Amino acid sequence: MKFQILTLFPEFFETPLQATILGRAHDKGLVDYELVDIRDFATDKHKTTDDLPYGGGAGMVMKPEPLVGALEHAREQDPAAPRILMSPQGEPLSQSLAHELAELPGMILTCGRYEGIDERVRQGWIDREVSIGDYVLSGGEPGALVLIDAVTRLLPGVLGNEASIREESFADGRLEYPQYTRPREFRGRQVPEVLLSGNHQKIADWRREQSVERTKQRRPDLLQDD
Ligand code: ADE
Repeated sequence: MKFQILTLFPEFFETPLQATILGRAHDKGLVDYELVDIRDFATDKHKTTDDLPYGGGAGMVMKPEPLVGALEHAREQDPAAPRILMSPQGEPLSQSLAHELAELPGMILTCGRYEGIDERVRQGWIDREVSIGDYVLSGGEPGALVLIDAVTRLLPGVLGNEASIREESFADGRLEYPQYTRPREFRGRQVPEVLLSGNHQKIADWRREQSVERTKQRRPDLLQDD
């Protein structure tokens, strides 16, 4: 899987892409990240990437020339990769969208900044838009990292077996059951007896119940189809 990340702030990604699961996936050769600095494609000597909005109003708009230059560069590297814009106006990122994206050989993630990008770029050079939630970030960078994490952990070989089983439980549309580790008693709080019973059927039933109960209480919207 090759992620090309178009951003005005490549340094934002440096540590996160090297750390934890994302870094390990890269070291194992399972993913490749390429950071494309949009500013490198600015066409004037001041390397301008934003400008005032036509019609007036607050804030700045990302200029089309550098953005399209960066998108064309990324497409030359990977002609089939969808060009995804991180945007609060996009389709919500969900576990099923993460699974769909994990099937691709690569993608181009475009991080917008300021008050937005020139609409002509959106219309002519973007294939889809993805939002990570109903709130406004100051730029698409944190959203791109969230998407990369959600997709990378689904790639074969990135996580062990245990994780793929747990993964399925969210795919069922339910929240996780509670987890415990040693010690058996911590500051007066006990691990539920059933988890110590060694009875795998009882444990599985208890976990399912807990998962359903938790989902009912916290996210009843997830159970609507049941
Ligand atoms: N950029 C700004 N807000 C965003 C959001 N909620 N999701 C993805 N990209 C964004």
